[in-house]
Amino acid sequence: MSDLAALGGTPVRSIPYPPWPQFDNSERDGLLRVLDSRNWWANQGTEVRNFEREWAEFTGAPHATAMTNGTNTLEAALLALGVGQGDEVIVPDWSFFATIGAILSVNAIPVIVDIDPLTGTIDPTLIEAAITDRTKAIVVVHVSGSVADMDAIGAIATKRGLRVLEDCAHAHGSTWHGKHVGTLGDAGSFSFQSSKLMTAGEGGAVITKHQDIADLVNSYVNCGRDPGTWYYRHFRLGDNWRMTEWQGAVLRSQLARFPEQQINRAANADLLNLELAKIPGVTPQGRLPGCDSQGNYCYVVFVDPQEFGGSRDQIRSALLAEGLPLTTSYPAMHSFDLFQHADGLAPRIRDFSHYPPYARESFPVTDRLAATSLWFTTAVLMGSSEDALDVARALEKVHGARHELASVVGVEY
Ligand SMILES: Cc1ncc(COP(=O)(O)O)c(C=O)c1O
Repeated sequence: MSDLAALGGTPVRSIPYPPWPQFDNSERDGLLRVLDSRNWWANQGTEVRNFEREWAEFTGAPHATAMTNGTNTLEAALLALGVGQGDEVIVPDWSFFATIGAILSVNAIPVIVDIDPLTGTIDPTLIEAAITDRTKAIVVVHVSGSVADMDAIGAIATKRGLRVLEDCAHAHGSTWHGKHVGTLGDAGSFSFQSSKLMTAGEGGAVITKHQDIADLVNSYVNCGRDPGTWYYRHFRLGDNWRMTEWQGAVLRSQLARFPEQQINRAANADLLNLELAKIPGVTPQGRLPGCDSQGNYCYVVFVDPQEFGGSRDQIRSALLAEGLPLTTSYPAMHSFDLFQHADGLAPRIRDFSHYPPYARESFPVTDRLAATSLWFTTAVLMGSSEDALDVARALEKVHGARHELASVVGVEY
């Protein structure tokens, strides 16, 4: 019989990793506090406003606006940065749908560029060539908390007069030269959806150092209103993207717990980075020297299918059977189905003729990383160092039994 659990052997782990999301009586008390207050709406209560203050303090940003989710945050931030119809926005190919979806939703034109193979974040050496006289902004994504090269990106943005929006959905706790992500560009967008490092099921926040951008974000989130004016005056085409008091209360507890969790996750990630580098065909996601803290939304590993004698999906199946929780990566955004057929952007965008031909574009680094990466859930970093080391043990075991991988059925998703 094979050693591999996928083929009948004993799994590396039979005990589950710590459950996610985590909570205790603090969240319970917060929810009851909101219930009893009868102020369930942020415009009447105190939880969301307090969370905004606490989140601003934690990130070091002068302004924070709590919102419905980390997709609407991107839209609100783009609008507040003045990005709209016909403007071009440079964006890396490797991210969740929301990053490009938000650009399309404000009627701007995404201009996709490839990524850096070490970190999976936007390759700054490709940005200048993508700039035209219609370019308004650069959106960067700190993939799984590994911070994009914000020095290089900031220099290009300053030189070319562009705005920078950081998509920090994966990067709570990530810093660049000691500064929290989201404070490095003009605005930062966070998600508190259930898989994120702090969660209320759904939720998001925009942070910024600019008073005028904060004022506009607050207005777009709140039906285009302005503070101190009659409730039924609407000064711009905003939306209702307000967070509820329930979410605010839960997120205050999640934030209070975050720093301690982050210390443990970071220590386990550092340990795994060292251990995994010893296994042939396995490369942990890297960090640039400026990234002095990485908030690991998940733990990302690149595998070499040739070295393993099996596909990435077969490796993933083998690891799942060993008791490890992991998914595969997002596909490259340019390959999304919505770009493959004429109606993919309708009815929002009917005339697609002046958009790049995304489906025919090629971004080789993204294609390669998307096809060869494994995303372990953050739970693997949330136990002891021995728990974390099971990732290395399982990868080592699968590599050791690579001649048998051909018999393992790959799960794609
Ligand atoms: C990189 C990135 N940006 C934005 C989002 C959107 O966040 P939300 O799900 O809160 O809308 C996500 C969510 O997974 C994400 O991974």
